[in-house]
Amino acid sequence: MNTRSNRMQIFSDNLSDLNIMVLSWKEKNEVVGFIPTMGNLHEGHLSLIRKIKEFGATKTIVSIYVNPKQFGPGEDYAKYPRTLDGDIKLLEKVNVDCVFCPSDKEIYPPNVESQVMINKLDLMDELCGKYRPGHFDGVLLVVNRLLSIIQPNIAIFGQKDYQQYVLIKNMVRQLIIPTEILMAPIIRENDGLAMSSRNSYLNSNQRSKAIHLYKSLISARKKIRENKIDCKSILRTEIERLNKIGLSVDYLEIRTSDDLSSVKEYKKKNDEYVLLGAVKLGKTRLIDNIIL
Ligand code: PAF
Repeated sequence: MNTRSNRMQIFSDNLSDLNIMVLSWKEKNEVVGFIPTMGNLHEGHLSLIRKIKEFGATKTIVSIYVNPKQFGPGEDYAKYPRTLDGDIKLLEKVNVDCVFCPSDKEIYPPNVESQVMINKLDLMDELCGKYRPGHFDGVLLVVNRLLSIIQPNIAIFGQKDYQQYVLIKNMVRQLIIPTEILMAPIIRENDGLAMSSRNSYLNSNQRSKAIHLYKSLISARKKIRENKIDCKSILRTEIERLNKIGLSVDYLEIRTSDDLSSVKEYKKKNDEYVLLGAVKLGKTRLIDNIIL
């Protein structure tokens, strides 16, 4: 289906019409910017749209697709919030040129490769990959499919999913996909909680506790910068504090900011490191990170 709401094109299944539209834009030297999402759009997504325009996109395409392959058994695929009508209205207001909301058969037609053929990095199974086996295989598969369908000049991802960004950049480099991959900063609620569709799962008690993940990142960064005690004991203290409050910590780790390699010894240099954390609050999993 291809519909038009005012000036925004909406595609769900007619991929060749979508291709023709993108080709005609490129012929006119437009810079096609792509913002992949799973919908339930919030200010964080809108900031990606603003940011990609700042990076030079003159045409914007937002995809809305809840990708089953990136959810593990027992995860929240079935209850993930689906708010397509509201999302489309919002995208129209912020002057997006095209929305792509495919169904499973467009993204995963039968007899199409169900794996991205790349040399896998160990990083796939570390940090979030350790707690969500197969998650990043699913992310790379859908992003690869979306990039092949849309063929944008640039695509943007949020810093909140830092590991996802690094892995996508690596895939694009290995497969020589002609799309530049960009990252946009985390957008936070007033109290500092990183915006996420999953925040809506939190009850008010959990919501008041959720902010402690960010507080721990900030507190650890301050102590690390002061260089008072070794990083390991700083992180250990924060993990204990979070666990005591009731946030069950999956990890709190310092990694290099370019490729998320493990860090044996932290040496103070701006922007070279990122501190990443993931916690569970009841059944809800929250992630966050800050540059050190
Ligand atoms: O970050 C997300 O919302 C998803 O992982 C993405 C990139 C849209 C792929 O489904």
